[in-house]
Formats: sequence, structure tokens, C-alpha cells
Amino acid sequence: MIEIVAGAPVEAASGDVLVVPALSGPTWGAGADWVVATLGEWVEEYLAAQEFTGKVGQMATVPGGEAVDYGRVMFIGLGDEVDAEALRRAAGTAGRALSKYPSVVTTLHELEIEDAAECVAFGFISGQYRFDKYLSDPKPARTETLTLAGADAAAMAAAERGSIVAAGVSLARDLINEPANAKPPTYLAAVAEEIAADTGLEITVYDKDACVEERFGGLLGVGAGAVNPPRMVVLRHEPDGAKASVVLVGKGIVFDSGGLSLKPPAAMETMKTDMSGAAAVFGAMEAVARLEVPVKVIAITPLTENMPSGGALRPGDVLRARNGKTIEVLNTDAEGRLVLADGLSLAVEEEPDLIVDIATLTGACKIALGPSIGGVLGNDDAAIRAVTAAAARAGEKVWTLPLEEEYAPLIESPIADVKNTGGRFGGAITAGLFLGHFVDDVPWVHLDIAGPARADKAEYYIPKGATGFGVRTMVALVEDMAS
Ligand code: BES
Ligand code: MN
Ligand code: ZN
Repeated sequence: MIEIVAGAPVEAASGDVLVVPALSGPTWGAGADWVVATLGEWVEEYLAAQEFTGKVGQMATVPGGEAVDYGRVMFIGLGDEVDAEALRRAAGTAGRALSKYPSVVTTLHELEIEDAAECVAFGFISGQYRFDKYLSDPKPARTETLTLAGADAAAMAAAERGSIVAAGVSLARDLINEPANAKPPTYLAAVAEEIAADTGLEITVYDKDACVEERFGGLLGVGAGAVNPPRMVVLRHEPDGAKASVVLVGKGIVFDSGGLSLKPPAAMETMKTDMSGAAAVFGAMEAVARLEVPVKVIAITPLTENMPSGGALRPGDVLRARNGKTIEVLNTDAEGRLVLADGLSLAVEEEPDLIVDIATLTGACKIALGPSIGGVLGNDDAAIRAVTAAAARAGEKVWTLPLEEEYAPLIESPIADVKNTGGRFGGAITAGLFLGHFVDDVPWVHLDIAGPARADKAEYYIPKGATGFGVRTMVALVEDMAS
């Protein structure tokens, strides 16, 4: 991975590329003003001819020279109002464009934004992410160092935080991009063991027999059709003097075929993504442990495949979840809520201040909010505000949907405590109401990431494929809970 290092001020440093900021106009930002003044008038004329105006995501490159001791200088657009997200995006754009250069130097962290260096490190590293392990001829990023020109200790500490969060996001992306034939529940549990061993987290893995013993009826029901056995993984970060506690529950369906309520082929193509909630929880736990955040954080990830077979769960079956509630399964493709029923029940037993679950739960949420916005629902306004504020600070887009009690009758069953489908309309809401049956009175927030878990095209610091959405919101939330 790229190393982020402190360097001499921009006038004295050198490297393959210097990346400097421009605001709309263009107005030259830190370091860019020096480059323009030093190289001479032709630079502004050249950039004008390239129609470089400093818009977000724009870039233009000029050659360096003797006075400006860099192979080339890249001007990167930040737009009208520089905020944290514009900075992450600019750094991501630069990271993606400059992956062939071993040494990149920048002044982007000098922009007057809180934790600018964190945004720069995060954006640049995340922008260079790629999943190439299955390519015979991979073209890995060759950037070895990103030098923050003239950075002080505070900036470097912020950059370190950005690298840690980026590593958590990369971990989640790697697990999500991994094809389903290479990531059975046992594999993900082994990855969790490795994370625990590397970071000092405690871990418990429940194998299938232990799941029976622990009455994880939802997880076992969904897993019934799969050849690969399920696992329930619990990770614990329990620092001394923890100020608060939160349980993170992540949906871990390693492949969602729909089960006997089989999905059509096209809808199945991306269903290796259906463990994105669990992957985001793993990434967040790794980051929280490495950041040593003084909050008790417990991760619960039910992991299974959803497959049809002679042993599979049938429409009409009744399951009993961990908390004793019975569920009539009418559609085996509404499986995420079944495994979350057990995960949430287990979370309640921890008596935390807050439960957050994250899941690629409903196509309805993707239809409602589109591909890049996550849905937020919950039983506690303050908790919802805490999560939406954390998401805003982290740069992940979410929008709150109502947990409308008036719709509760849609998931009433004549033969069980609840049924697992609520009909065509308001699908993200009825799914949320279903989950509400398993959280008792504990403040709880549900994140439906069916849309933003994947991206159709690369943009800024988001690659095509798995995005790692949710890692940053959860890390920011835990950090907020510490203060
Ligand atoms: N994993 C899917 C939801 C999903 C759909 C995620 C598209 C990402 C993209 C989930 O398990 C599912 O199949 N939900 C059903 C629920 C329905 C049967 C009540 C859905 O949304 O169609
Ligand atoms: Mn499904
Ligand atoms: Zn699913």
C-alpha cells in the first residue's frame, strides 16, 4: 500500500508529480499560486486553452522544470466551495489518474478544512483501489509514496487516520468483490479471525452445530438449502474506560439466489454483493480497533448462502428466531431480514446504548433513493440523527425513511408472530418494521445499502464494483460516540 509521508515545503520538495488545487475561476490554491508564478504566464494561457476552470474533478497537467522540480504538475479542480467531500473527490481523482507514478507530492492538505490531510489520504488511497487478483495481466498502481509537502505532526496524524479508514474500506471492497465461489461463510469467518489476530479484537465463531445450540433459527433457515455451512461471527472491541457501547450487525449473504423463490438470472448477477453489510462491519471493526477509539463496539455478522435445493427453506415455512418470535416465510428471497432477526436478537442481549444494522436489504430502497443513497430507518430520533450526522461527516449519502407504524398490519401473519414480506409497496419500510420486531426497546438504526453497496462506474474515489459503503459512517459514528 501507498505510504503517506511528510515532506519539505512545496518550493523545496521534488517528485514525479506535484498535485495542486484550483478553485472555480480558476483561482489558484495552496502551492498552485507558487507554480503559476514560478513557471510563468504561459501556464495560465495553456490551462485556459484547455478550458480548465477549476470545476470539481477537472484536471490539467503541465511539465515541470528546474525551478519547479517535479516531472509534471497536475492542477486539480475543487469547484466553488471547498468542503471535505470536494477534497476527498479531488484526491481520489488524482489518485486514480496518477497510479503509474511512484512518487506523488501534493499541497491539497493545506486547504482550510478540518482534517484536510485525512480527506487527502483517504481519497488518494481509495482512488487507487483495484481488484485484480484474478487477472492474468494485472496492472497494479505503482505509486509508492504520497508526500504531503510541508505537513506538520497534526496533519500527519490526520493522514494516518485517513489511511486506516481507507484500509478498512479496501478490506470491505476486497471481500465484496470476491466471487461467491471463493467466499463461503467459513472463508469470511477465517478472515474475521485474521482481523482479530492482527488488531487484538476478541472473536467468537459459531459453527453450524453452535448455531443450532444457540437457536439461530433465521440463519439456519436461510442456510438450509446451501451446501456450504453457515457461520455467526461476533467480534469485540472492549477498551478500558469505554464511554459508550454500540453493536454493529451486518447482513452476510455470500450469495443471494433468492432460494426457492428464485431470482431471474439478471438479478442474480451481482448477488455476491449481498454480504456488503457484513463486509462493511468487518472493515469498520478493523479501523476502530486500529484507531483505538474508546467506545465498546461489538460486531455481529450472520453469514450464509441463500440457495435452492431439496433441503431448502420453502415458502410457507415457519422459523423461530433467537428471541423466540416466529416468522412465516412467504418469500425465501426476503432472506436478509431472517438472518438479521437472529443478529439483532443477539445484539439486544448485549444491552448496548445503540444497535446499528447494515444490509443490502431491499430492491425497494434502491428504487426509492437511487443507486448512490443509503436508506436510514430506526426507532429513536436521536439515534437516527447521530447516524445521519456521522454519514454526512464521513461523506456517505443517506436519507431517512419513515418507520411508519401504520404499515405494521402488512407484515401480520395469521399463523406466526410476523411474516417476512409486506407486499409490493413501501418495501424498504415494511422490511424495517420487520426488523423492529427483534430490537426490543434498544435505540436502533437500520441502514439499507442495497443501492450504494455497488457502483456501476468509477467516479472520484469510488471504483466500479464494490464501494465499501458504510465503513466510513460506522467509524465516524463510533468516533462521535467517544466524545
Ligand atoms: N439482496 C436483496 C436486495 C437487493 C436487491 C440488494 C437489489 C441489492 C440490489 C434482498 O435479499 C431481496 O431479494 N429482497 C427482495 C425482498 C422481497 C422479496 C420482499 C426484494 O427487494 O425484491
Ligand atoms: Mn433476497
Ligand atoms: Zn439478499
